[in-house]
Amino acid sequence: MPSKTGLALFGLAASALAEPQVLHMPLTRNPNANRLAKRNGDALVDITNDLSEGLYYVNASVGTPGQEIQLTLDTGSSDIWFFGANSCDENTTDCFGGTYNPSKSSSVTVLNPKGAFSIQYGTAGSNVTGNYITDDFSVGAASVKNLTMAYATYAAYVPTGVMGIGFDTNEAITDEYGSPYPNFVDVLVSQNVTKTKAYSLWLNDLDSSTGNILFGGYDTKKFSGELLTVDIQPDEMSGEITSMTVAWTSLNVTANSKTTQVTKSDFTSPALLDSGTTITIVPDDIYYALFEYFQAESDGEGDAIVKCSLLDSSDGTLDFGFGGTGGPVVKVPFSELALPATDTNGNWLAFEDGELACVLGLEGTDDGEMPVIFGDTFLRSAYVVYDLTNKQISLAQTVFNATDSNIVEISSSSPVASVVTGVTVTQTATNNPLGQATATAASSTPTDSSGSSINSIGVLSSSTSTATSAASTSSHGSAASIPAPVPGLMTSLLVAGASMMFGSVFFMLH
Ligand SMILES: *[C@@H]1O[C@H](CO)[C@@H](O)[C@H](O)[C@H]1NC(C)=O
Ligand SMILES: *[C@@H]1O[C@H](CO)[C@@H](O)[C@H](O)[C@H]1NC(C)=O
Ligand SMILES: *[C@@H]1O[C@H](CO)[C@@H](O)[C@H](O)[C@H]1NC(C)=O
Ligand SMILES: *[C@@H]1O[C@H](CO)[C@@H](O)[C@H](O)[C@H]1NC(C)=O
Ligand SMILES: *[C@@H]1O[C@H](CO)[C@@H](O)[C@H](O)[C@H]1NC(C)=O
Ligand SMILES: *[C@@H]1O[C@H](CO)[C@@H](O)[C@H](O)[C@H]1NC(C)=O
Ligand SMILES: *[C@@H]1O[C@H](CO)[C@@H](O)[C@H](O)[C@H]1NC(C)=O
Repeated sequence: MPSKTGLALFGLAASALAEPQVLHMPLTRNPNANRLAKRNGDALVDITNDLSEGLYYVNASVGTPGQEIQLTLDTGSSDIWFFGANSCDENTTDCFGGTYNPSKSSSVTVLNPKGAFSIQYGTAGSNVTGNYITDDFSVGAASVKNLTMAYATYAAYVPTGVMGIGFDTNEAITDEYGSPYPNFVDVLVSQNVTKTKAYSLWLNDLDSSTGNILFGGYDTKKFSGELLTVDIQPDEMSGEITSMTVAWTSLNVTANSKTTQVTKSDFTSPALLDSGTTITIVPDDIYYALFEYFQAESDGEGDAIVKCSLLDSSDGTLDFGFGGTGGPVVKVPFSELALPATDTNGNWLAFEDGELACVLGLEGTDDGEMPVIFGDTFLRSAYVVYDLTNKQISLAQTVFNATDSNIVEISSSSPVASVVTGVTVTQTATNNPLGQATATAASSTPTDSSGSSINSIGVLSSSTSTATSAASTSSHGSAASIPAPVPGLMTSLLVAGASMMFGSVFFMLH
């Protein structure tokens, strides 16, 4: 259970910006919550859920007079909903963030038919049903009128209400073949809060509990180097742009002043940039290579456990490239991947030799059952501008802890940054790693004669961590082998606490 009183909740006061037509909103990270990803109508997939790091929240106010609620900010879904009174099943979740009562709002219209709202997210059993409404909605300094949202009459396995800011074509109503309604990002434009449907997300680093989102603009002091733009990729099934999917084209490992190419030169894969997922999901062969590289151990439930010191002591980075040659590159420091491994009481687990245990903030796609998702463990290192009007995403390296600000308004007439033309990919509903991504500007099956799409990368060496300790001796087989749980590791981890927080969840993506 997250401590509600322990959360640092930040003020709503937006910067008083005279010139740019933007909306600035602080975000707070909940240190302990499930991850989300809107479901796909098709396959149920078993994956593990590390609860060790939380999602990002905003304070919002709904109705007249305003009812204060908190919502998870989610670029992977497109509806705003919150708990109605007694709607949340407390046996399944923490029911965090407050409730909304439509009978206490003078500005509400409850839409018919009742019970029409229904959405499922990544967590096992997650299910939210409720009523659509229109009402006033405020975040930051902005208020919008007559916004279509939903309040839950039943909600299970979802820790809090959600503020989905994806495309209207991904709204839950489209699962029922309904027409999309104008969502928050659309209404910001129609009610003149911003000039275009665009926003920039700056999550800041793992040691910081806050970040921010800027609607209608970007902040040149929050990134280094050049912001570069790639096209958002359409969904293979519908051919429509429904999700924040971009073409990922390269992964290197840089450590000890040496760069090693993990992916081969013709690699392409769709990658969903999803703030509502706490970890990063990569194709299995890449995951196993990194698992081995970081000398990880399996906890038997699908999570990779590493020595925190190995990741923290290295100035190494995972370098992700997008859009092909000359495209944006985001370098994720190893330390940003090390989420504390804690038991259900919040105690930090340790290996037998006393070294603190961390969960590697990466997972595999599980034989292509899951799509490639770049969640918060990736996104914290990136400054990302989501431009829904032009259907483009611009990326640059973040500046952690930046305090300066220089906000540039995004207008539809001036592109955010230079566009990299090149590789395109298509996100598939059940995205097999590598192979099933269709690539129009590159080989669609990036494999060589050995059947491997990646290079061997070896094992991370670090002067401050010995690779020979008892807990890091196994599962260093071939890169494609499934890591086996290490007998003894679990027991040594369990010594430190009553039970592990890692458990299986179902995961579905829209
Ligand atoms: C944010 O919401 C929480 C929970 O309702 C509340 O305690 C806090 O005062 C709110 N912050 C502001 C600035 O309104
Ligand atoms: C929650 O669990 C309690 C105790 O097992 C049970 O009595 C109650 O019916 C459950 N509530 C729901 C909503 O399932
Ligand atoms: C979700 O919950 C509602 C209300 O309890 C129920 O009618 C519906 O069948 C559930 N849907 C799913 C997909 O579990
Ligand atoms: C409220 O929004 C809905 C669509 O979202 C629209 O049909 C309706 O006309 C709007 N009402 C007002 C008073 O603006
Ligand atoms: C938005 O601005 C346009 C042009 O300035 C104006 O015509 C329109 O009435 C404004 N809409 C709202 C909701 O203020
Ligand atoms: C950012 O600030 C936090 C403290 O708020 C600190 O722990 C962290 O090391 C800083 N990050 C960087 C990259 O300087
Ligand atoms: C990875 O290294 C190769 C070879 O040096 C280079 O061409 C490519 O741009 C690098 N990719 C990234 C993401 O840094």
